[in-house]
Amino acid sequence: MKDVLRIAIVDPSDSTREPLRNLLLGVESVWLEAECSRYEFFIDVARQSSPDLVVVSLDADHAKDLQLIQQLTAEFPNIPVLGVSARGDGQSILQALRAGAKEFLTAPVVLEELLLALNRLRQTRTTVAADGTLSVNGAPKVDTLSVCVVGSRGGVGCTSLAVNLGCNLAQDTRLNVALVDLDLALGDADVALDLIPDYTLADVAMNIDRLDMTFLRRSLCKHASGLSLLPHPVQMEDISLIHEDHLGRVIGLLKASYSHLIFDLSKRFTPTDLTAMRMSDVILLVAQLELTSLRNIVRLLHTLGNEDGMADKLKVVVNRVGADEGDITLRKAEETIGRPIFWQVPNDFKAMIGARNAGVPLLTHAPKSKTQVSIAALAQALSGRGPQEPAKKERRGFFSFK
Ligand SMILES: Nc1ncnc2c1ncn2[C@@H]1O[C@H](COP(=O)(O)OP(=O)(O)OP(=O)(O)O)[C@@H](O)[C@H]1O
Ligand SMILES: [Mg+2]
Repeated sequence: MKDVLRIAIVDPSDSTREPLRNLLLGVESVWLEAECSRYEFFIDVARQSSPDLVVVSLDADHAKDLQLIQQLTAEFPNIPVLGVSARGDGQSILQALRAGAKEFLTAPVVLEELLLALNRLRQTRTTVAADGTLSVNGAPKVDTLSVCVVGSRGGVGCTSLAVNLGCNLAQDTRLNVALVDLDLALGDADVALDLIPDYTLADVAMNIDRLDMTFLRRSLCKHASGLSLLPHPVQMEDISLIHEDHLGRVIGLLKASYSHLIFDLSKRFTPTDLTAMRMSDVILLVAQLELTSLRNIVRLLHTLGNEDGMADKLKVVVNRVGADEGDITLRKAEETIGRPIFWQVPNDFKAMIGARNAGVPLLTHAPKSKTQVSIAALAQALSGRGPQEPAKKERRGFFSFK
């Protein structure tokens, strides 16, 4: 994601070049190295700018554009060519591919298809080193890890976990982390982070048909920790604007820009909640050591586990361990739910409520508290990456017994 793809485009027609340029400019991992409106000049442009990828529009002069692709692939065999044409028939595609294009997109280009094509081209890009050996230049975009935080009853600690997990992940500057507040009616991730949003999911939903990466990224507000937040709608009546297919598109696009997505779900298992769960890699089911919560965990494991591809994603997190609320032990809880507990977050009322009331994450308010230590370790376990700096981290208070 951070390795930038330098692109040069050639398209004699302003009316198709402009929208393509705007689409490319919105993609974070793209740097528009050069733009050209004449096929005959483009080979020089490519020589001077030596881009990682060229995009050739195929509609202005079909003989010239195919000749250009042949010339480009002969002179720069390591620079893949992406052909774009309004003619999406088999013959046109074949001609472009035979001339040497590696990918073909039909105009007007759909953002999702462009992102997929760019990622495929990234993976196939090769360079010839001075010693003549071939190597892959430009790793494929690392898959985004999406995590849903799901409650087993109200007030079980989902927002606290989602917000603090996000802030902890965002401490690693190699990661791009976004939190989406899907508790559309009563969500409070914005309050927990003391952020006043300019845009919300409702604005994104209203503009879903002309959504590009620039607009989408602008709709997220950035917290000082580095975490980006896509907030729930401010006006309750706007909730109905957000459909599950909107959310599906938004999640797909966010995955192109962010390494980690966290969803703070409502407790109503709405279609949007289910969409997020289906599109996630990990579903953290948050419980507390009391009967209602554990009984609901059993029900959730059963219901969600019956859905295709869902069972392996489900992980139980017990929050507020040590709260002395009752006599249910962790062992008893594991027996009841019939599977190991993935993570435990200790009870620390003072740190948690203090952080919430101050509108700051635990890592600012109570960096040494046991809840922060536990959630930081959870973030690290989920990040799939080692510590960013050589370990000066304490491993004390590591509560996992996965
Ligand atoms: N580990 C913890 N130790 C102590 N208090 C906690 C802990 N986790 C959460 N809390 C407290 O529990 C309360 C509810 O937490 P939170 O709002 O995160 O839950 P929620 O599941 O998002 O609630 P809702 O159902 O309203 O969305 C808050 O006051 C929070 O400070
Ligand atoms: Mg909440």
